[in-house]
Amino acid sequence: MGALLEVKNLVTQFHTQEGVVHAVNDVSYTLQEGETLGVVGESGSGKSVHVLSMLGLIPMPPGKIANGEVLFDGRDLVTLSDREIRQVRGGEIGMIFQDPMTSLNPVLTIGTQITEALKIHLHMSETEATNRAVELLDMVGIPDARRRLRDYPHQFSGGMRQRVMIAIGISCNPKLLIADEPTTALDVTIQAQIIELVKDLKKQIGMAIIWITHDLGVVAGIADTIQVMYGGRILERGPVEEVFKDTRNAYTLGLLNSLPRLDTKGGARGRLQQIVGSPPDMIIEPKGDPFAPRNPYATPRCFEETPPLRHVDGGHPDHLVAAWYDLREAVKQQSVEEAV
Ligand SMILES: Nc1ncnc2c1ncn2[C@@H]1O[C@H](COP(=O)(O)OP(=O)(O)OP(=O)(O)O)[C@@H](O)[C@H]1O
Ligand SMILES: [Mg+2]
Repeated sequence: MGALLEVKNLVTQFHTQEGVVHAVNDVSYTLQEGETLGVVGESGSGKSVHVLSMLGLIPMPPGKIANGEVLFDGRDLVTLSDREIRQVRGGEIGMIFQDPMTSLNPVLTIGTQITEALKIHLHMSETEATNRAVELLDMVGIPDARRRLRDYPHQFSGGMRQRVMIAIGISCNPKLLIADEPTTALDVTIQAQIIELVKDLKKQIGMAIIWITHDLGVVAGIADTIQVMYGGRILERGPVEEVFKDTRNAYTLGLLNSLPRLDTKGGARGRLQQIVGSPPDMIIEPKGDPFAPRNPYATPRCFEETPPLRHVDGGHPDHLVAAWYDLREAVKQQSVEEAV
């Protein structure tokens, strides 16, 4: 496996009347070919803006990519022209967004929308594209595929529309599929089916995936690597099991503690906890660790200096954390204090 995507020092801002929104603040990471990355973090943490920045989908103005590179297969996506990035989007990089009703065109048949991508990106003829569209609808589990090509989006259920979006997302055999909360609007059973479907397609196609979600359960089910974002920064990143069992950032711990757990009896993790405090104001010039004001383990340094994302001490080599405090020590200390 080699690096497929290298995001380097990405900074994206929005210049609004209220001030500059610091949406993405110096995000760097590498995604390997075939890797599935789960990106989590609460609302407004920069999850969507960071992928939209890669895809040339930030409205400019008010948006601006103030710094950074996004190397994909050797090219810097940030510097591509509109025409060039349009070739990448829907071609080498497939996308699935949350609401297929707004992503699909209501006045065009499903067939037209799927074959369009194939004609543009893979230069297929009408017949070739139609045959491939049938094959794709079969692959995503839409029965009676050939007949359904003539139907419009509203003739499909929510879950089926999401399957159509996935068919379009994978139609050109992308090297990378970006999914931004694709199952949030669906009920739990359908959500589980869609996740199974994507896992299955991944086995067949082998593409890398960036899957953005609020749901840590989804990450546990689908991702190799988890990336926790807060205040436009990556606070922790690593193999999913490592980050879950050897958590090093207080925000990640807060997210994990806010989940009801079935596998522990009592103890801090047995209780359903909420992270106290409110999300950061993205208009204030970022300073220090963005989570410091809500972090019970914050040290004075956390309020002053931004911690770099670095390898954790004595942990997995791919496990990275941004924190000045030592979470394991701090938690140990706290349990000692609670005990006396
Ligand atoms: N067009 C825009 N104009 C101004 N600010 C914007 C714009 N788009 C996004 N932002 C701001 O950028 C920040 C990051 O937003 P982003 O959409 O990336 O969050 P997110 O992590 O995807 O949240 P959610 O989980 O709600 O989707 C937020 O403060 C948001 O208000
Ligand atoms: Mg979002």
